[in-house]
Amino acid sequence: MQENRCVVLASRPQGAPAVHNFRLESRQIPPLQAGQILCRNLYISLDAGFRNWMDEGSGDNVLPAMPLNEPVMGLTLGRVEESRHQDFKAGDILMARFAWEEFTVTDAGDFISPIRQADYPLNYYLGVLGDTGLSAYFGLTDHGQVTPGETVLVSAAAGAVGSIAGQIAKLHGARTVGISSGEEKCRRLISELGYDAAVDRTAADLALAMADACPQGIDVYFDNVGGPILETVLDQINEDARILLCGSVATYNQQQPEPGPNNLFQLTTKHAHMHGFMTHLNLDRYDEARATMARWISEGHLVVHEHRLQGIENTGQAFCDLFAGINFGKTIVEL
Ligand SMILES: NC(=O)c1ccc[n+]([C@@H]2O[C@H](COP(=O)([O-])OP(=O)(O)OC[C@H]3O[C@@H](n4cnc5c(N)ncnc54)[C@H](OP(=O)(O)O)[C@@H]3O)[C@@H](O)[C@H]2O)c1
Repeated sequence: MQENRCVVLASRPQGAPAVHNFRLESRQIPPLQAGQILCRNLYISLDAGFRNWMDEGSGDNVLPAMPLNEPVMGLTLGRVEESRHQDFKAGDILMARFAWEEFTVTDAGDFISPIRQADYPLNYYLGVLGDTGLSAYFGLTDHGQVTPGETVLVSAAAGAVGSIAGQIAKLHGARTVGISSGEEKCRRLISELGYDAAVDRTAADLALAMADACPQGIDVYFDNVGGPILETVLDQINEDARILLCGSVATYNQQQPEPGPNNLFQLTTKHAHMHGFMTHLNLDRYDEARATMARWISEGHLVVHEHRLQGIENTGQAFCDLFAGINFGKTIVEL
């Protein structure tokens, strides 16, 4: 029996997740049953959205609440070591929703996206060619309707989704503005990700900083954070603006929901649209989207940044980093 190190949910985060909410354990890999695969996980993706399913009773129609003392659910990239399942064979590369563990034994009934041809480093299939990069792609191409010269504002612009969303908006001819925290990250938005301007979300007067960076108003807002930033944006949208609701990092740690934006009437007067989307519902379009994104990478239109940690023991820390705004690019743990 081979050892399987995993990180379990030791306690439920109260507010922001902390390293002590996670515990490293060692378990035995169970023998493979008919219909199962054994997958060796090579990378773990850290996604702020999974915070939503760490609370007691938080399960919904997207995912069940995570049980205590079991490996934390998350997105992984791995290689099939052994298969007793008709659809998979040893050597297959899978992006999947497994868990923070070195090996996964599963009947493969859950969210799995096989990587049939890996032309890029495998870690790309969790980032720019994975769920986060594809969120930027589907959000903007399906719902953004960006036209040249429009102003596209992106929050969490240095993160996994935002770093790619800004570059895709640029490909559509937009003037791009990114929101991040601190002078250094804002500087890097412009110099390394090609944003035309940046807004520091820690500025004393956020509305003023946003107005300075978006003098023509906001046509498209790619929203990764929700909360007070969304409210500030609503006051500066143009007529027919499109607000793409990708995520809400600013609210995931709230123990009590706060009142929502108090200025939704802006949508009425500006005849604007708000559109939410869930990327994994497009699983049957991942190959098509990856082909377009891969072309953009090879043509030099998309640069890829990563916040990478080594070793399964650092997975909890990597997850906490997301809420502290430490990352620049996709946060990933290499096993
Ligand atoms: N709809 C979907 O299917 C889908 C799929 C994947 C991800 N998502 C969502 O997309 C969003 C971005 O995910 P990601 O993986 O790209 O994360 P990320 O941007 O790599 O990391 C999170 C970033 O959010 C910012 N942040 C943290 N706390 C904040 C707060 N209180 N207020 C404002 N900003 C805060 C920080 O950036 P700065 O400090 O630089 O501002 C942090 O680096 C998340 O909401 C996630 O749930 C949605």
